[in-house]
Amino acid sequence: MTIFGIPIFPEQASTFAKDVDALYFFIFAVSAFFAVVVAIGVIYFGIRYHKTHDSEIGARIEGSLPLELLWSVIPTIIAMVMFGWGASVYYHLRRPPAEAMHIYAVGKQWMWKFQHLEGQREINELHVPAGRPIKITISSEDVLHSLYFPAFRTKMDAIPGRYTELWFEAQTPGEYHIFCTEYCGTNHSGMIGTVTVLEPAQYQAWLQGGAAEGTLAQRGAGLFNDLACSTCHLDTGQGRGPSLKDIVGKMVELQDGSTVLADEAYLRESIVNSQAKIVKGFQPLMPTFQGLVSEENLVALIEHVKSMSPNATTAAAPATGAAAATPKPAAAAAEKK
Ligand code: CUA
Repeated sequence: MTIFGIPIFPEQASTFAKDVDALYFFIFAVSAFFAVVVAIGVIYFGIRYHKTHDSEIGARIEGSLPLELLWSVIPTIIAMVMFGWGASVYYHLRRPPAEAMHIYAVGKQWMWKFQHLEGQREINELHVPAGRPIKITISSEDVLHSLYFPAFRTKMDAIPGRYTELWFEAQTPGEYHIFCTEYCGTNHSGMIGTVTVLEPAQYQAWLQGGAAEGTLAQRGAGLFNDLACSTCHLDTGQGRGPSLKDIVGKMVELQDGSTVLADEAYLRESIVNSQAKIVKGFQPLMPTFQGLVSEENLVALIEHVKSMSPNATTAAAPATGAAAATPKPAAAAAEKK
């Protein structure tokens, strides 16, 4: 966006960029208006009522109820408009649509690593299709980072040991900045990248260009065997660990009688901090994998577990199952409509 030919804002390249900007400019305009009113008032009163000779004494003013009501009620209304408007934009920004395409991001000193469910991996680059909601699940391998897409008007912190998420729907094909906006050490300012928004057909072509090592879920399946998870977590439920079949999106009963939703956060915790939540009827036999599995491999394992729940109702899981099983027909169908 330019004002008088001067570029002051990044492009509005996502569906909600206009909403964010409108709110921003509204708050900016209200602040500017009152700043000007107060400044003019200060100058005017300073001149109009300044002391002209030494014996002058100011008049005693007891106050004015109508005036006080006025300057309480009007700012309250303005603040509530900002609050209501802000909350509505915020809800929209923080709730990825159920049909969103899923991508994983891992922050690391000093780079952004992205993983597509189809298997593609990128560093400081991200390719996404235009006109489709994209959900990015974010984690960090070391310290706090923050994934920021200025042209999409959205950002979210990358927090070690936790999954956070953001979403956007890019509208205009092109290349846009990726920034890290949380100071994370010496090369924080160099932790930048490029997001390339492609036409859906181009994106499909780009997807076909790589993925020699299989989908993310397939890579997870390999790890599941390599780490010997498969020796205890038998599908039959007769193993030393609980069966992982069809658990995603469901409530899991725990030893202490409580229940927990089997989502990504629960799966992650159960791998890195295996003693935290013991499933009812099982012994705390599983070793911890803290420090033994990288964040990238963790998401591969989680995608593998999610692929065992093809009918899961959580936002991301159905897309996962479908993408893992039949990436090309699904892609072709998406292209046709
Ligand atoms: Cu990563 Cu700043």
